[in-house]
Amino acid sequence: MNPSKYNNIQVALHWVVALLVLFMLVMGTFVLAQTPNSDPSKLTALRGHMVFGSVILLLTLLRLVWRRKSVQPDHAETGNALLDKLGVAAHYGLNLLTLLAAASGIGLALQAGLPRIVFGGQGILPSDFWAFTPRIAHGILTKLLAALIALHVVGALYHQFIIKDRLFGRIWFGKRDM
Ligand code: HEM
Repeated sequence: MNPSKYNNIQVALHWVVALLVLFMLVMGTFVLAQTPNSDPSKLTALRGHMVFGSVILLLTLLRLVWRRKSVQPDHAETGNALLDKLGVAAHYGLNLLTLLAAASGIGLALQAGLPRIVFGGQGILPSDFWAFTPRIAHGILTKLLAALIALHVVGALYHQFIIKDRLFGRIWFGKRDM
């Protein structure tokens, strides 16, 4: 029989990555993208964004490896086959979009020569990033990710409060019973 909940490492990784991604979506949209490249504070904002974005990529890869190596609880069920399939697809989608969002950010940074400018203090920022194709991909992927996170939260709340199956207990700390 599969365990009743995720293990504590998975729980910790889930919530750390979730908080980091939310922080990045909000700061990326409302601060970073709104600050002109000519503003001196842009370098500091980019530094933080690039570091946190790379940490998200590493932690997500670690999370996926850990997932493969440990025994998982069964997929949560709603009693509706279509909703259950949507739930499984949403989990794949969240992982894929997180990886692609981070990868497109890194692609953009490399194409625009940001590591040298932002961390090495050599050269100046281009007037904006829109001439680089990964900028367009990064904008679209991060918006899709935000939309899927919203759906994921609605799904989790549906389980918790409508079906009342105490889904949150599966992704919180504690002992697992088989
Ligand atoms: C999953 C991780 C990441 C998330 C959630 C994220 C989120 C965002 C968001 C929401 C924006 C603004 C998009 C828009 O409004 O069009 C943005 C812009 C940007 N991101 Fe990321 N990002 C991530 C990873 C990265 C990484 C790893 C790098 C580079 C190493 C990076 C570099 C950039 C750059 C250069 C911009 C453009 C800022 C501008 O146009 O002024 N991002 N990011």
